[in-house]
Amino acid sequence: MKVVSVVGARPQFVKLAPIDRAARAAGLDHVIVHTGQHYDPQLSDVFFEELGISDPEIHLGVGSGSHGVQTGTMLAALDEVLEAQRPDWVLVYGDTNSTLAAAVSAVKLHIPVAHLEAGLRSFNRRMPEEHNRVLTDHAADLLLAPTDVAMRHLSAEGLGERAVLVGDVMTDVLLGARRAAHERRGDLARDLGLALGGYYLATIHRAENTDDPARLRSIVDALARLDMPVVLVAHPRLIARADAADIRLDAGSIRLSTPLPYSGLIAAALGSAGVVTDSGGLQKEAFLLRVPCTTVRTETEWVETVELGWNVLAADSAEIAAAVTRPAPLDTDATPYGDGRAAERTISALFAAR
Ligand code: UD1
Repeated sequence: MKVVSVVGARPQFVKLAPIDRAARAAGLDHVIVHTGQHYDPQLSDVFFEELGISDPEIHLGVGSGSHGVQTGTMLAALDEVLEAQRPDWVLVYGDTNSTLAAAVSAVKLHIPVAHLEAGLRSFNRRMPEEHNRVLTDHAADLLLAPTDVAMRHLSAEGLGERAVLVGDVMTDVLLGARRAAHERRGDLARDLGLALGGYYLATIHRAENTDDPARLRSIVDALARLDMPVVLVAHPRLIARADAADIRLDAGSIRLSTPLPYSGLIAAALGSAGVVTDSGGLQKEAFLLRVPCTTVRTETEWVETVELGWNVLAADSAEIAAAVTRPAPLDTDATPYGDGRAAERTISALFAAR
Protein backbone atom coordinates (compact mmCIF):
# COMPACT_ATOMS: atom_id res chain seq x y z
CA MET A 1 0.00 0.00 0.00
CA LYS A 2 1.27 3.43 -0.91
CA VAL A 3 0.39 6.48 1.20
CA VAL A 4 1.27 10.09 0.43
CA SER A 5 1.27 12.33 3.52
CA VAL A 6 0.89 16.03 2.77
CA VAL A 7 2.11 18.39 5.50
CA GLY A 8 3.23 21.99 5.66
CA ALA A 9 2.89 23.58 9.10
CA ARG A 10 4.52 22.95 12.46
CA PRO A 11 1.73 21.01 14.22
CA GLN A 12 1.47 18.72 11.21
CA PHE A 13 5.10 17.67 11.58
CA VAL A 14 4.38 16.56 15.16
CA LYS A 15 1.39 14.51 13.95
CA LEU A 16 3.42 13.08 11.08
CA ALA A 17 6.17 11.73 13.35
CA PRO A 18 4.28 8.73 14.83
CA ILE A 19 2.51 8.07 11.51
CA ASP A 20 5.83 7.90 9.66
CA ARG A 21 7.20 5.54 12.30
CA ALA A 22 4.11 3.28 12.21
CA ALA A 23 4.05 3.36 8.40
CA ARG A 24 7.67 2.23 8.23
CA ALA A 25 7.02 -0.51 10.83
CA ALA A 26 4.10 -1.77 8.71
CA GLY A 27 6.26 -1.79 5.55
CA LEU A 28 4.20 0.87 3.77
CA ASP A 29 5.48 2.88 0.87
CA HIS A 30 5.18 6.25 2.65
CA VAL A 31 5.92 9.38 0.64
CA ILE A 32 6.06 12.73 2.44
CA VAL A 33 5.16 15.91 0.56
CA HIS A 34 6.03 19.23 2.28
CA THR A 35 4.05 22.16 0.92
CA GLY A 36 6.46 24.75 2.35
CA GLN A 37 3.71 26.64 4.23
CA HIS A 38 6.20 26.82 7.12
CA TYR A 39 9.74 27.38 5.88
CA ASP A 40 11.72 28.87 8.79
CA PRO A 41 14.05 26.12 10.05
CA GLN A 42 12.76 26.67 13.62
CA LEU A 43 9.21 25.89 12.47
CA SER A 44 10.10 23.02 10.14
CA ASP A 45 13.56 21.43 9.88
CA VAL A 46 14.09 21.10 13.64
CA PHE A 47 10.92 19.02 13.91
CA PHE A 48 12.00 16.58 11.19
CA GLU A 49 15.43 16.23 12.81
CA GLU A 50 14.34 15.94 16.41
CA LEU A 51 11.34 13.68 15.86
CA GLY A 52 13.22 11.40 13.45
CA ILE A 53 10.83 11.95 10.54
CA SER A 54 11.90 10.74 7.08
CA ASP A 55 12.94 13.57 4.77
CA PRO A 56 10.18 14.87 2.50
CA GLU A 57 10.51 13.36 -0.95
CA ILE A 58 8.88 16.42 -2.51
CA HIS A 59 9.03 20.02 -1.35
CA LEU A 60 6.67 22.49 -3.01
CA GLY A 61 8.23 25.63 -1.50
CA VAL A 62 4.94 27.52 -1.51
CA GLY A 63 5.64 29.89 1.41
CA SER A 64 3.37 32.57 2.88
CA GLY A 65 0.51 34.47 1.25
CA SER A 66 -3.16 35.32 1.64
CA HIS A 67 -5.40 32.30 2.21
CA GLY A 68 -6.50 32.17 -1.42
CA VAL A 69 -3.03 32.62 -2.89
CA GLN A 70 -1.38 30.18 -0.48
CA THR A 71 -4.08 27.48 -0.78
CA GLY A 72 -4.41 27.95 -4.54
CA THR A 73 -0.67 27.74 -5.17
CA MET A 74 -0.49 24.49 -3.21
CA LEU A 75 -3.52 23.09 -5.00
CA ALA A 76 -2.02 23.78 -8.42
CA ALA A 77 1.33 22.28 -7.46
CA LEU A 78 -0.21 19.20 -5.82
CA ASP A 79 -2.21 18.15 -8.88
CA GLU A 80 0.96 17.25 -10.72
CA VAL A 81 2.57 15.55 -7.71
CA LEU A 82 -0.42 13.40 -6.78
CA GLU A 83 -1.08 12.50 -10.41
CA ALA A 84 2.51 11.25 -10.70
CA GLN A 85 2.44 9.40 -7.35
CA ARG A 86 -1.04 7.81 -7.69
CA PRO A 87 -1.06 6.48 -4.09
CA ASP A 88 -3.72 4.26 -2.50
CA TRP A 89 -4.31 7.06 0.02
CA VAL A 90 -3.53 10.73 0.41
CA LEU A 91 -3.30 11.38 4.15
CA VAL A 92 -3.98 14.94 5.32
CA TYR A 93 -3.50 16.30 8.82
CA GLY A 94 -5.39 18.77 10.99
CA ASP A 95 -6.79 22.06 9.74
CA THR A 96 -4.28 24.22 7.92
CA ASN A 97 -4.35 25.56 4.38
CA SER A 98 -2.04 22.66 3.43
CA THR A 99 -4.73 20.22 4.65
CA LEU A 100 -7.47 21.73 2.52
CA ALA A 101 -5.30 22.07 -0.60
CA ALA A 102 -4.26 18.40 -0.48
CA ALA A 103 -7.81 17.18 0.17
CA VAL A 104 -9.23 19.14 -2.76
CA SER A 105 -6.44 18.13 -5.14
CA ALA A 106 -6.78 14.42 -4.26
CA VAL A 107 -10.56 14.28 -4.37
CA LYS A 108 -10.63 15.87 -7.82
CA LEU A 109 -8.09 13.32 -9.07
CA HIS A 110 -10.28 10.52 -7.62
CA ILE A 111 -7.53 9.47 -5.22
CA PRO A 112 -8.90 8.32 -1.82
CA VAL A 113 -8.31 10.88 0.94
CA ALA A 114 -8.03 10.16 4.66
CA HIS A 115 -8.26 13.03 7.15
CA LEU A 116 -6.37 12.64 10.40
CA GLU A 117 -7.83 14.66 13.29
CA ALA A 118 -11.26 14.69 11.68
CA GLY A 119 -14.42 15.92 13.39
CA LEU A 120 -13.02 18.75 15.48
CA ARG A 121 -15.25 21.80 15.53
CA SER A 122 -15.05 25.24 17.11
CA PHE A 123 -18.36 26.29 15.48
CA ASN A 124 -16.66 29.65 14.94
CA ARG A 125 -17.17 30.36 11.25
CA ARG A 126 -14.65 33.21 11.27
CA MET A 127 -11.69 30.90 11.94
CA PRO A 128 -9.64 29.85 8.90
CA GLU A 129 -9.02 26.50 10.62
CA GLU A 130 -12.78 25.88 10.93
CA HIS A 131 -13.25 26.40 7.17
CA ASN A 132 -10.37 24.05 6.47
CA ARG A 133 -11.53 21.24 8.75
CA VAL A 134 -15.21 21.32 7.76
CA LEU A 135 -14.42 21.37 4.03
CA THR A 136 -11.77 18.66 4.39
CA ASP A 137 -14.06 16.36 6.38
CA HIS A 138 -16.78 16.65 3.76
CA ALA A 139 -14.33 15.94 0.93
CA ALA A 140 -12.54 13.00 2.54
CA ASP A 141 -13.32 9.29 2.15
CA LEU A 142 -12.01 8.18 5.54
CA LEU A 143 -12.30 10.27 8.70
CA LEU A 144 -9.83 9.42 11.45
CA ALA A 145 -11.25 10.99 14.60
CA PRO A 146 -9.25 11.69 17.77
CA THR A 147 -12.09 11.74 20.34
CA ASP A 148 -15.67 10.61 21.04
CA VAL A 149 -16.78 14.24 20.73
CA ALA A 150 -15.25 14.44 17.23
CA MET A 151 -17.10 11.22 16.29
CA ARG A 152 -20.38 12.80 17.43
CA HIS A 153 -19.75 15.92 15.34
CA LEU A 154 -19.13 13.77 12.27
CA SER A 155 -22.32 11.76 12.85
CA ALA A 156 -24.30 14.97 13.29
CA GLU A 157 -23.09 16.10 9.85
CA GLY A 158 -24.05 12.79 8.21
CA LEU A 159 -20.43 11.60 8.00
CA GLY A 160 -20.58 8.88 10.68
CA GLU A 161 -20.26 5.97 8.24
CA ARG A 162 -16.89 7.21 7.00
CA ALA A 163 -15.53 7.83 10.52
CA VAL A 164 -13.23 5.71 12.69
CA LEU A 165 -12.13 6.56 16.23
CA VAL A 166 -8.34 6.14 16.33
CA GLY A 167 -7.33 8.46 19.21
CA ASP A 168 -5.03 11.45 19.08
CA VAL A 169 -1.62 11.02 17.47
CA MET A 170 -0.27 13.99 19.45
CA THR A 171 -0.76 11.83 22.55
CA ASP A 172 1.49 9.19 20.97
CA VAL A 173 4.27 11.76 20.65
CA LEU A 174 3.74 13.34 24.06
CA LEU A 175 3.77 10.05 25.95
CA GLY A 176 7.05 9.18 24.23
CA ALA A 177 8.59 12.54 25.18
CA ARG A 178 7.30 12.84 28.75
CA ARG A 179 10.14 11.12 30.59
CA ALA A 180 12.84 13.21 28.87
CA ALA A 181 10.76 16.33 29.54
CA HIS A 182 10.79 15.59 33.28
CA GLU A 183 14.59 15.48 33.19
CA ARG A 184 14.82 18.75 31.25
CA ARG A 185 11.98 20.69 32.89
CA GLY A 186 14.38 23.06 34.67
CA ASP A 187 16.43 23.93 31.54
CA LEU A 188 14.49 26.96 30.35
CA ALA A 189 14.16 28.40 33.87
CA ARG A 190 17.91 28.02 34.39
CA ASP A 191 18.77 29.57 31.01
CA LEU A 192 16.54 32.58 31.74
CA GLY A 193 17.47 32.92 35.41
CA LEU A 194 13.94 32.02 36.56
CA ALA A 195 12.76 29.62 39.28
CA LEU A 196 11.38 26.20 38.32
CA GLY A 197 7.60 26.62 38.60
CA GLY A 198 8.13 30.39 38.88
CA TYR A 199 7.01 31.45 35.40
CA TYR A 200 4.13 31.12 32.95
CA LEU A 201 4.66 29.81 29.43
CA ALA A 202 2.74 31.72 26.73
CA THR A 203 2.18 31.31 22.99
CA ILE A 204 -0.11 33.52 20.89
CA HIS A 205 -0.28 33.09 17.13
CA ARG A 206 -3.85 32.75 15.87
CA ALA A 207 -5.15 35.26 13.36
CA GLU A 208 -8.08 36.24 15.59
CA ASN A 209 -5.60 37.31 18.30
CA THR A 210 -2.73 38.72 16.21
CA ASP A 211 -4.38 40.45 13.28
CA ASP A 212 -6.51 43.03 15.15
CA PRO A 213 -3.97 45.49 16.66
CA ALA A 214 -6.32 46.52 19.50
CA ARG A 215 -6.90 42.92 20.54
CA LEU A 216 -3.22 42.03 20.25
CA ARG A 217 -2.26 45.06 22.34
CA SER A 218 -4.74 44.15 25.07
CA ILE A 219 -3.48 40.54 25.23
CA VAL A 220 0.16 41.63 25.39
CA ASP A 221 -0.72 44.19 28.10
CA ALA A 222 -2.49 41.49 30.12
CA LEU A 223 0.54 39.17 29.86
CA ALA A 224 2.90 42.02 30.78
CA ARG A 225 0.93 42.64 33.99
CA LEU A 226 0.85 39.02 35.25
CA ASP A 227 2.21 38.29 38.73
CA MET A 228 5.15 36.14 37.55
CA PRO A 229 7.52 36.22 34.59
CA VAL A 230 5.86 35.15 31.32
CA VAL A 231 8.05 33.36 28.78
CA LEU A 232 6.42 34.32 25.49
CA VAL A 233 7.52 31.86 22.82
CA ALA A 234 6.88 33.90 19.72
CA HIS A 235 5.72 32.54 16.35
CA PRO A 236 6.98 34.70 13.44
CA ARG A 237 3.41 35.77 12.76
CA LEU A 238 3.21 37.34 16.24
CA ILE A 239 6.51 39.18 15.73
CA ALA A 240 5.39 40.46 12.31
CA ARG A 241 1.96 41.66 13.50
CA ALA A 242 3.36 43.26 16.68
CA ASP A 243 6.04 45.09 14.66
CA ALA A 244 3.45 46.36 12.20
CA ALA A 245 1.25 47.68 15.03
CA ASP A 246 4.20 49.05 17.02
CA ILE A 247 3.49 46.81 20.02
CA ARG A 248 6.42 45.96 22.28
CA LEU A 249 6.55 42.25 23.08
CA ASP A 250 9.13 42.42 25.88
CA ALA A 251 7.25 44.72 28.26
CA GLY A 252 6.63 44.17 31.99
CA SER A 253 6.64 40.50 33.04
CA ILE A 254 7.24 39.21 29.49
CA ARG A 255 10.48 37.45 28.52
CA LEU A 256 10.52 37.00 24.78
CA SER A 257 11.74 33.68 23.35
CA THR A 258 12.27 32.39 19.84
CA PRO A 259 10.21 29.30 18.82
CA LEU A 260 11.32 26.15 20.68
CA PRO A 261 11.80 22.66 19.31
CA TYR A 262 9.20 20.08 20.39
CA SER A 263 11.12 18.65 23.35
CA GLY A 264 12.09 22.13 24.55
CA LEU A 265 8.50 23.34 24.50
CA ILE A 266 7.21 20.29 26.36
CA ALA A 267 9.93 20.60 29.01
CA ALA A 268 9.25 24.34 29.34
CA ALA A 269 5.52 23.69 29.82
CA LEU A 270 6.23 21.04 32.45
CA GLY A 271 8.53 23.41 34.34
CA SER A 272 6.00 26.26 34.32
CA ALA A 273 3.30 27.33 36.78
CA GLY A 274 0.79 27.39 33.94
CA VAL A 275 0.37 27.79 30.20
CA VAL A 276 -1.37 30.69 28.42
CA THR A 277 -2.02 29.92 24.78
CA ASP A 278 -4.25 29.96 21.73
CA SER A 279 -2.64 26.83 20.28
CA GLY A 280 -4.74 23.69 19.98
CA GLY A 281 -1.84 21.29 20.47
CA LEU A 282 -0.48 23.04 23.54
CA GLN A 283 -3.88 22.95 25.30
CA LYS A 284 -3.82 19.17 25.05
CA GLU A 285 -0.14 18.86 25.88
CA ALA A 286 -0.68 20.93 29.04
CA PHE A 287 -3.56 18.63 30.00
CA LEU A 288 -1.50 15.48 29.39
CA LEU A 289 1.32 16.97 31.49
CA ARG A 290 -1.26 18.13 34.11
CA VAL A 291 -0.20 21.77 33.86
CA PRO A 292 -3.10 24.28 34.20
CA CYS A 293 -3.89 25.99 30.92
CA THR A 294 -5.58 29.29 30.07
CA THR A 295 -6.78 29.53 26.49
CA VAL A 296 -7.10 32.99 24.97
CA ARG A 297 -10.07 32.23 22.75
CA THR A 298 -13.86 32.31 22.84
CA GLU A 299 -14.11 28.54 22.35
CA THR A 300 -11.98 25.43 22.01
CA GLU A 301 -12.18 22.27 19.94
CA TRP A 302 -10.58 20.34 22.83
CA VAL A 303 -13.61 20.67 25.12
CA GLU A 304 -12.49 17.74 27.32
CA THR A 305 -9.65 19.83 28.76
CA VAL A 306 -12.21 22.43 29.92
CA GLU A 307 -14.76 19.90 31.20
CA LEU A 308 -12.07 18.19 33.29
CA GLY A 309 -11.07 21.54 34.82
CA TRP A 310 -7.52 21.80 33.40
CA ASN A 311 -8.28 24.49 30.84
CA VAL A 312 -10.14 27.78 31.24
CA LEU A 313 -11.18 30.01 28.33
CA ALA A 314 -10.29 33.68 28.60
CA ALA A 315 -12.35 35.14 25.78
CA ASP A 316 -11.43 38.67 26.79
CA SER A 317 -7.91 39.69 27.74
CA ALA A 318 -9.32 41.18 30.99
CA GLU A 319 -10.07 37.58 32.06
CA ILE A 320 -6.49 36.30 31.66
CA ALA A 321 -5.12 37.32 35.08
CA ALA A 322 -7.97 35.70 37.06
CA ALA A 323 -7.82 32.52 34.96
CA VAL A 324 -4.05 32.16 35.35
CA THR A 325 -4.14 32.58 39.14
CA ARG A 326 -7.14 30.29 39.74
CA PRO A 327 -6.83 27.44 42.27
CA ALA A 328 -5.21 24.22 41.06
CA PRO A 329 -7.60 21.84 39.27
CA LEU A 330 -8.66 18.49 40.73
CA ASP A 331 -6.50 15.60 39.59
CA THR A 332 -7.98 13.21 37.04
CA ASP A 333 -7.05 9.90 35.43
CA ALA A 334 -9.33 10.50 32.40
CA THR A 335 -7.81 9.67 29.00
CA PRO A 336 -10.00 11.46 26.44
CA TYR A 337 -7.11 11.62 23.96
CA GLY A 338 -6.38 7.93 23.75
CA ASP A 339 -3.66 5.56 24.88
CA GLY A 340 -0.71 6.63 22.73
CA ARG A 341 -1.37 4.09 19.94
CA ALA A 342 -3.38 6.25 17.57
CA ALA A 343 -0.80 6.02 14.76
CA GLU A 344 -0.94 2.21 14.70
CA ARG A 345 -4.74 2.36 14.58
CA THR A 346 -4.53 4.89 11.75
CA ILE A 347 -2.40 2.55 9.64
CA SER A 348 -4.77 -0.36 10.39
CA ALA A 349 -7.75 1.80 9.37
CA LEU A 350 -6.04 2.70 6.07
CA PHE A 351 -5.50 -1.01 5.31
CA ALA A 352 -9.06 -1.91 6.32
CA ALA A 353 -10.75 0.81 4.23
CA ARG A 354 -8.65 0.30 1.10
C1 UD1 B 1 -0.79 28.09 10.42
C2 UD1 B 1 -2.18 27.46 10.43
C3 UD1 B 1 -2.66 27.34 11.87
C4 UD1 B 1 -1.66 26.61 12.74
C5 UD1 B 1 -0.31 27.31 12.61
C6 UD1 B 1 0.74 26.60 13.43
C7 UD1 B 1 -3.58 28.03 8.48
C8 UD1 B 1 -4.74 28.83 8.01
N1 UD1 B 1 -3.16 28.30 9.73
O1 UD1 B 1 -0.91 29.41 10.91
O2 UD1 B 1 -3.88 26.59 11.87
O3 UD1 B 1 -2.10 26.65 14.08
O4 UD1 B 1 0.07 27.32 11.24
O5 UD1 B 1 1.89 27.37 13.56
O6 UD1 B 1 -3.09 27.18 7.77
N2 UD1 B 1 5.80 32.94 8.82
C9 UD1 B 1 7.16 33.00 8.87
N3 UD1 B 1 7.89 31.86 8.68
C10 UD1 B 1 7.30 30.65 8.43
C11 UD1 B 1 5.90 30.60 8.36
C12 UD1 B 1 5.16 31.74 8.56
O7 UD1 B 1 7.74 34.06 9.10
O8 UD1 B 1 8.01 29.64 8.28
C13 UD1 B 1 5.02 34.16 9.07
C14 UD1 B 1 4.69 34.96 7.83
O9 UD1 B 1 4.64 36.30 8.20
C15 UD1 B 1 3.29 34.48 7.49
C16 UD1 B 1 2.70 34.29 8.87
O10 UD1 B 1 3.78 33.80 9.68
O11 UD1 B 1 2.56 35.39 6.74
C17 UD1 B 1 1.55 33.33 8.93
O12 UD1 B 1 1.94 32.05 8.40
P1 UD1 B 1 0.81 31.06 7.83
O13 UD1 B 1 1.42 29.81 7.38
O14 UD1 B 1 -0.08 31.80 6.88
O15 UD1 B 1 -0.13 30.78 9.07
P2 UD1 B 1 0.22 30.47 10.61
O16 UD1 B 1 -0.12 31.68 11.40
O17 UD1 B 1 1.58 29.89 10.77
